[in-house]
Amino acid sequence: MLPGQKGIKEVADWLTSASGSGGIAVLTGAGVSSESGIPTFRDKLTGLWEGYDPAKLASPQGFVANPALVWQWYDWRRGIVEAASPNPGHLALARLEQLSQHFTLITQNVDRLHHRAGSKNIIELHGNILNYSCFSKRHPASFVAPGLTEPPLCHCGSPLRPDVVWFGESLPAGAMSLATDAVLSSSVLMVVGTSGLVQPAASLPYIALEAGIKVVEINPVRTPISDQVDVFVEGPSGGVLPHMVSLVEER
Ligand code: OAD
Repeated sequence: MLPGQKGIKEVADWLTSASGSGGIAVLTGAGVSSESGIPTFRDKLTGLWEGYDPAKLASPQGFVANPALVWQWYDWRRGIVEAASPNPGHLALARLEQLSQHFTLITQNVDRLHHRAGSKNIIELHGNILNYSCFSKRHPASFVAPGLTEPPLCHCGSPLRPDVVWFGESLPAGAMSLATDAVLSSSVLMVVGTSGLVQPAASLPYIALEAGIKVVEINPVRTPISDQVDVFVEGPSGGVLPHMVSLVEER
């Protein structure tokens, strides 16, 4: 970034006015955590789905076929998440929430870094990797001993699993309608670090555009929505967001 990049001052104006009464919604994806050392899914060479098969590792069928493999893969990912810290992009979003009267952070991420950065009003569309639930009834599990190489059993007899959303599964009850309401009651939606390829989260920017809400995208590369948003800011969120929020603070 990019000081002086086209549109950035305009975005800061929109955010300043939206922080007062209009409301700000933010949709984040894996890119916002990549500067914390957490791999994204679809970036060339470094994305998880470049080297791992989502059908085997992130689907109910994959879990039934090989529960130990899925358990260990999530254990490895949990280790990366636990060793990571929020980066300046996460911190800037937490600061923007403090400056705003109505602010909702909608995330597809399961890493809880937005919470650790201090964001408060968060909707987790895909669950989180630090919690567990059982496979059949989704009872939450209170404690799981570390170091297990295969899933322990829930009190109901079903194996435990990470409390994330897998391909083919529904989102946590009510999450998408809360997210849609948050978007529709905002005057700006920022879309940060997501390829916009996974539904239903990917529909949120289109819902905003249709409703006449300003949509700003932050990403180092263009995505399917980039040509339609009001402003596309090209760059990493850890650089762009602190600058943008500092402009809001100056106003
Ligand atoms: P993707 O891996 O599909 O996309 C990550 C996006 O982040 C890409 O558009 C990158 O260009 C962008 N990016 C990379 N580095 C960045 C940076 N420093 N700053 C800003 N952007 C950056 O990840 P998601 O869109 O989050 O779902 O993927 C959506 C869902 O697909 C995930 O929640 C996960 C995955 O399969 C489930 O597991 C259900």
